[in-house]
Amino acid sequence: MNGPRHLVLVGMMGVGKSTVGRALAAELGRPLFDSDEMIEERTGRTVREIWITDGEPAFRTLETEVLLDALASSEPSVIAAAGGVVLSDANRSALQGGEAHVVWLRSEVEVLVDRVRNGGHRPLLDDDPEAALRRLFDERAPLYQEVADAIVSVDNRSVSDVTKAVLRCCG
Ligand code: S3P
Repeated sequence: MNGPRHLVLVGMMGVGKSTVGRALAAELGRPLFDSDEMIEERTGRTVREIWITDGEPAFRTLETEVLLDALASSEPSVIAAAGGVVLSDANRSALQGGEAHVVWLRSEVEVLVDRVRNGGHRPLLDDDPEAALRRLFDERAPLYQEVADAIVSVDNRSVSDVTKAVLRCCG
């Protein structure tokens, strides 16, 4: 692949960034940086624990830290960025800084609702997942659009099909 060093997946919770990221990393023979996993490894705490104890702003600071570190890696990598990564101006500038080919994995909210589960690393979905996903999608769609070099729809597609579509659009 010519051009930007890293392949970055962005998109909503439940769209399959980590799963597709793993498949892409295997296909391309590259390391995978998964931002939520990086945060958990680095702090020795779960995303939920950080979120509940320290609050969302503290979590967002860590999110920026690991994104910038992943982008700074000299080895071409696949980066599965957490869903909220586009909220910060600094993160969006970093994503548009030339090191990354950014792919927005896009899905209809109805499909996301079926795919996400309460609990785990997604405290934003604790109360009313469907309403939360709708609100977050409306807020974030323009931001995903802003950073995306390509958009790949995941609806009605297997992981393998989505992976191939990403490879086609970025190859
Ligand atoms: C979040 C997405 C989650 C996790 C946290 C916040 C968000 O990651 O970082 O719950 O704001 O969209 P995934 O996108 O991997 O689910």
